[in-house]
This record gives sequence, C-alpha cells and structure tokens, in this order.
Amino acid sequence: MTPVLSQNEVFNYGDYALIYIDKRRKILTRLKQGEKISSDKGVIAADDIIGKEKGSQIKTSLNIRAWALKPLILDYIDKSLKRVTQVIYPKDLGFIILMLGLGSGAKVLEAGVGSGNTTALLAHIVKPDGHVYGYDIREEFLKVAKENLEKLGLDKYVTLRLADVRKGIDETGFDAAVIDMPDPWEALEALHTSLKPSAPIAFFIPSIQQLIKLYNALEDFGGFIDIRAFEIMLREFELSRTAIRPSTYMVGHTGFIVFARKIVKST
Ligand SMILES: C[S@@+](CC[C@H](N)C(=O)[O-])C[C@H]1O[C@@H](n2cnc3c(N)ncnc32)[C@H](O)[C@@H]1O
Repeated sequence: MTPVLSQNEVFNYGDYALIYIDKRRKILTRLKQGEKISSDKGVIAADDIIGKEKGSQIKTSLNIRAWALKPLILDYIDKSLKRVTQVIYPKDLGFIILMLGLGSGAKVLEAGVGSGNTTALLAHIVKPDGHVYGYDIREEFLKVAKENLEKLGLDKYVTLRLADVRKGIDETGFDAAVIDMPDPWEALEALHTSLKPSAPIAFFIPSIQQLIKLYNALEDFGGFIDIRAFEIMLREFELSRTAIRPSTYMVGHTGFIVFARKIVKST
C-alpha cells in the first residue's frame, strides 16, 4: 500500500531542496516553477521534483542519478550564507552547543557576530521561545549578518547590536554566551555581569598567545570556575568497498575553545 504522505513530506513550490548528485556535488535550491537546476552532470527541472517524496531519486538531462533531499541547517549555513569574516567551523560549533547546554528557549549572548554564521545556528537551536543577542563593533558585518539571518527566516529570534562588549552589555540574565573576538579578556567584567548565576560561557580563540592571555585573565578575574580548554580535531574517512581509510587532507587548525562557568565573584 502506498503510504499517504503529508504536505511536509513531499516537495512543493517554494521549498528548499538539496540536490545530491555525489559527495562533491550538492546544490541547495529553492524550487520555482520552470526553474532549471544546472550542474556539470546535466540539468534538472524543478517541476520534476514537485510532489515527489523527500529523498526521491531524479535524473539529470544526462541521465545521471541524483536525489532531492530536505536540507539540514548545516546545508543552509554552508551553502547559502555570505561570509565576510572568519567563521566558527561546524566541528567546533557542535561541541560549543553541547558544552553550553543550549536548547529551545535559551537566552544567549554572542560577541562578535561577524558574518552571522554562528548566530544562525544559535537562533536555530533556541527558537521558537529563545533569543540571541548578537554584538559587533563593525556595522558592515552586522549588515551582512542581518541579511544572512533574514535569508534563513531566523532574524526574528535575534537582536543585533552595534556596540563594544568591552564597554558593557545592555541585557542581563543570559543562560549562556559565545564569545569570538580578538581580546575577550578585556570584556570579562561585562560578560560576568550579563550572565545568569552559574551560567556557562564559551570563548573561541585562534592562537596559543590568546589562550594563555585568556586563561590568566580568567584566573585573575575570579568570577569563573571549571575553566577548560579544548581543541577539536575531526578526521573524515574515505569510504569505498575496497579501501576505507582516513582522508589525505583535513582541516589542521581552526581555534581553541575555552569553557568556563560563572560563579559569585569573591571579593
Ligand atoms: C571572527 S568574527 C566572528 C565570526 C562569528 N563567530 C561566526 O562564526 O560567524 C569576530 C568579530 O568580532 C567583532 N568584534 C571584535 N571586537 C569586538 C568587541 N569588542 N565587541 C563586539 N564585537 C567585536 C569583529 O568586528 C568581528 O566581526
């Protein structure tokens, strides 16, 4: 018996689809009437995908197999957002989300926002009842971040502020904070004030010099405990029937994650 599929399980006009041809050919597209989706493996008509179950096989004009998938948040972030700054990589983001215990309903502070890649993931995690407050000192970056968030329909879960967190943070009562800026040790007082009692914070920093400086500053400040530093290494494997082995190339270094929890500051 053919299962009855809900409207959400089949593709409609206006839906996003990830066209998967192979590992190197994944195309994110919004399905429009009459649209042609082109690749070096041939063309696919968007109209041929409409009404098909998500995950269905389709053929390109060169008779090559492809599949129409429902995109994941990572597909949207990777393939549709403009990047004008360095961004935190997925391998690091996943761990940050876990360490901060983030979920729907959380109120999260972010500094700096940059291109808004991390902001988009945070908003996706805390929606629909949570909110992200993102600070940056560069107006031009906030403009790009705003456009990126709008593209994903996540802007309603984010308030962007053009301000320097070293000088203070407007809101208080944050459940968690994600800090990706060059000199976070200059903002410890403001960050400490803005967090809820016992709330966790994650700093992302690219160099050893910054790691040493941040650790010393956190110890001297006295308002954080359980200070830990991590480096995430992710090694993908090449998969084939005859030889499964680690990939020759990998992302060697992105940055360090420093984690801490707010405590009542001793006087
Ligand atoms: C590497 S980018 C952040 C990228 C972001 N985490 C992402 O994954 O898309 C660093 C940002 O910090 C901002 N920044 C630097 N100092 C700051 C400060 N004192 N207050 C707020 N933002 C700051 C910079 O303007 C820059 O946009």
